[in-house]
Amino acid sequence: MHAAIIMDGNGRWANRRGLPRAAGHRTGAAAVRRTVEAAPDLGISTLTLYAFSEDNWSRPPREVSALMKLLGRYLTQETSRCIANGVRLQAIGRRDRLPAPLVALLEETEHKTAGGTRLHLRLALDYSSRQSIVEAARRAGGTATEQQLSALIGPDVDLLIRTSGEQRLSDFLLWECAYAELVFTPRLWPDFTAQDLAQAVAEFHSRERRFGGVTADPARRTA
Ligand code: IPE
Ligand code: IPE
Ligand code: MG
Repeated sequence: MHAAIIMDGNGRWANRRGLPRAAGHRTGAAAVRRTVEAAPDLGISTLTLYAFSEDNWSRPPREVSALMKLLGRYLTQETSRCIANGVRLQAIGRRDRLPAPLVALLEETEHKTAGGTRLHLRLALDYSSRQSIVEAARRAGGTATEQQLSALIGPDVDLLIRTSGEQRLSDFLLWECAYAELVFTPRLWPDFTAQDLAQAVAEFHSRERRFGGVTADPARRTA
C-alpha cells in the first residue's frame, strides 16, 4: 500500500504552548520517526511525506532556515536507523533551490539506504504536484499516454492522510490521488502517533473502493 501524509499543524501545536513555531517542527520530526517505524507492520510499503512545499518558501526566512536545518539534522540522525530498518529514503521535488549542504546530505542518505526493501520512504521537499505534472508532460512529449505520464509522475496513492483538521490537498500528489481514500484527522502533526496511523489504515480497509465500477457486495446489488 502507498500511504501519503500531509504533516500539518506544527505551528498551531507550538502556538498553543506559547512556543516558537520551530519548536513545533522539532517535535514534528519525532512524529516522523514514529510513523516511519510503524508503517511497514501496517502493510505500508511506500510512504510519501509532505515536508516542504514550493509555496512554503513564502514563509518568513527564519522559519524556512529552521526547517532546512531540521531536515539536515533528521537525515544525519536517521540514516543509520533507516539502513537498520530496511528503509530506502528518496527525496521528491526540486533540489536546485535547497541549501547545497542539504542536497549533499540527501544524496548521501539516498545512496546509503538504496538497498532498503521494507519501506520506500519518499520525502517531498520543495515540492509542487502541478510542477511535477508539467515536468512529466514536457518530458513525455505531446502524444504521451496516461500510462506514460503516470510512470513519470509516480505511484498512485492508496491512502492520503492530512492532519490538523484541514481538508485540502495544498498541491500534493494531485495526479497520484485520483482514487486515493482520504482520511482527515484533527490531530496536530507533532501529536500524531503509531495508533493514529493504525486507525487511518483501519479506516482505509473499511472503505469500499470501486474505481468507478459497481459494488462488489451482492446484498447491495439491485439488478
Ligand atoms: C506543517 O505545519 C509543517 C510545514 C508546512 C513545513 P505548519 O507549519 O503548516 O503548521 P500550521 O499549519 O501553521 O499549524
Ligand atoms: C502543506 O501544508 C505543506 C506541508 C505540510 C509541507 P501548509 O500548511 O503549507 O498548507 P496550507 O497553507 O494550509 O494549504
Ligand atoms: Mg499548515
